[in-house]
Amino acid sequence: MSRRTTETIFRSLIMDSKFDVIIIGSGPGGYVCAIRAAQLGLKTACVEIAETLGGVCLNRGCIPSKSLLHSSEIYHKAKKEFKNLGIDFSDIKLNLPKMMNNKNRSVLTLTKGIEFLFKKNKVTHLKGKGSILNNSTVVVTDIDGNKKKYNTKNIVIGTGSTPTSLPNIKIDEKLIVSSTGALSFEEVPKDLIVIGGGYIGLELSSVWSRLGANVTVVEFLDHIIPGMDRDVSDEFLKILKKQGINFKLDSKVTSVSTVKNKTIVDFTNNKTATRERIECDKVLVAVGRKPNISEDMLKLGIKLDDKKRIKVKKNFSTSVENIYAIGDVIDKGPMLAHKAEDEGIAVAEIISGQAGHVNYDVIPAVIYTSPEVATVGKNEEQLKAENVKFKVGKFPFLANSRAKVNLETEGFVKILADEKSDKVLGVSIISSLAGTLIAELALAMEFGASSEDIARTCHAHPTHSEAVKEAAMAVDKRPIHF
Ligand code: NAI
Repeated sequence: MSRRTTETIFRSLIMDSKFDVIIIGSGPGGYVCAIRAAQLGLKTACVEIAETLGGVCLNRGCIPSKSLLHSSEIYHKAKKEFKNLGIDFSDIKLNLPKMMNNKNRSVLTLTKGIEFLFKKNKVTHLKGKGSILNNSTVVVTDIDGNKKKYNTKNIVIGTGSTPTSLPNIKIDEKLIVSSTGALSFEEVPKDLIVIGGGYIGLELSSVWSRLGANVTVVEFLDHIIPGMDRDVSDEFLKILKKQGINFKLDSKVTSVSTVKNKTIVDFTNNKTATRERIECDKVLVAVGRKPNISEDMLKLGIKLDDKKRIKVKKNFSTSVENIYAIGDVIDKGPMLAHKAEDEGIAVAEIISGQAGHVNYDVIPAVIYTSPEVATVGKNEEQLKAENVKFKVGKFPFLANSRAKVNLETEGFVKILADEKSDKVLGVSIISSLAGTLIAELALAMEFGASSEDIARTCHAHPTHSEAVKEAAMAVDKRPIHF
C-alpha cells in the first residue's frame, strides 16, 4: 500500500472518530462522567487500560473490600456473638477460597454491569492506554502496541491514584503487600503488620483480625484516622482494641525486610526513640495513595500543585483549554469514590452547557468497619482552628432502643451546630449503621438545616435513626432518653 493511501485511511479513521468528549479512565469518576455525558447527548468515549471497567474502586478497592468486610463480619459474629442472641452453633469453619470466589464474582458482575450501561447509553469503550497528544487528540495504545488516534472537542482526565509506599520498602504483593495483595491472601496470615492507621489500614485490619490473624497496626501519629474528630477517633481506637487489634501509635516504620518467608518490621517511637522489631508473615503498607499523572500530561503543560495533583478551576478545567480533570488526580476534596462520581456528573453537565457543581463542604466519609464510622462536614478541631463558636449534641447508642435490642450499643451520634444560627456544621457517627445514617445528615446540611430542623423531624421508632434526632435535641440540651 502506498504511503498516500495509508495516510488517507488514517485520516478518514480520525474523521470518523470525532467525539464531543473522551474520558481517560473508567473508575467511579470516569464511567459516571461518560454515562452522564452520553445522557446529555454528547458523543462520548471512555478509554480504559485494564481488562475490566470500574477502576480501583470496583476491581481492587471499595467493592472487594466491602465483600470481605461483610463476609468476615458475619463469620466473626457467628463465632463470637450469635450465642448472645440464643443461636448456638458448633463447628463453624472458614472457607477462605469460597469467600474469595464470592468476592471475585461480585466484582465481575459489577464490572460487567458498567459494560452493559455503556452499551445502553451508547458510550464507546476504547480499550487500551489513553494518552493525550494535544487538547483535541487522544491516542489509544492497545495491548498489542497498536496505536489509534481519536479527535475530540473535550478531554476529561479521570486516571485515579495508586498506593504509595515508604522509602526503601518495596511492595512485592506477596509478603509486603498493598491493599491489592491484602484483598487476595490465599490463607489467613498468622501475624499481620499493618503500616498506617488510616481508612485502608483499619478496614483490612478488621477483615484479617476477624478471620483469625494477629494484627498489629503501626501508625506514625499519636491517633488513628488523621483528620477525624479526635473524640471519635479516640472512641474508635478503644473499640478496635477491644476487638483484639494491637496498636503501636506514635511510631515510625524505619525498615521492612524479608528473610525466607518471614518479614521483619523495624519501627521507632517518635517520643521515646525506643526501637522495636516485630516479625510477621505479611505486611500491609497502607500509608496513602498518589495521583496517576503521566508524562503526556506534563508535556502538555498541565499544572500540578505541590502534592503533584492536577490543579483544576471551579469548572474542573485544567491549565490547558478543553482538558478537564476529576477524582483522585485533582487538588480538590478527599480521595473518595462518591466525590469522584459527583465531579464526573458535574463536569459532564458543565461541558454540555449546564451548571454542574460539587459542594466540597458536604462530602460524607465512611469507614466500613464494625461498627462503622461516618462523618460529614467539619469536626471540633477544625471549627476551633477557624474560631467558629459551636454547640455540641451527643447521643449514645446505649440509650437507643433498637441498638439495645440488637446488642449494637457501641458508639454515638455527635452533631456540631453554629452557636448563634444553630446551622449544622458537622456530624460524626459511630454505629453499626453509620454509613447509612450519615446520608440524612448530608442531606440536612445540603439544605442548610439547623439542629432544630432535625430535632423536629419525625423519625421512625424503633430505629437507629432516632439517635440522630436525639443528638439534635441534645444540641439544645433536651434529649429525651439520656
Ligand atoms: P490514609 O491517608 O487514610 O492513611 C494513611 C496513614 O498512614 C495515616 O494515618 C498516616 O499517618 C500513616 N503513615 C504514614 N507514614 C507512616 C509511617 N512511616 N509509619 C506509620 N504510619 C504512617 O491512607 P490510606 O488508608 O492508604 O487510604 C488512601 C485513600 O483511600 C484515602 O484518601 C481514603 O480516603 C481512601 N479510601 C477510602 C475508603 C473508604 O471510603 N471507606 C476505604 C479505603 C480507602
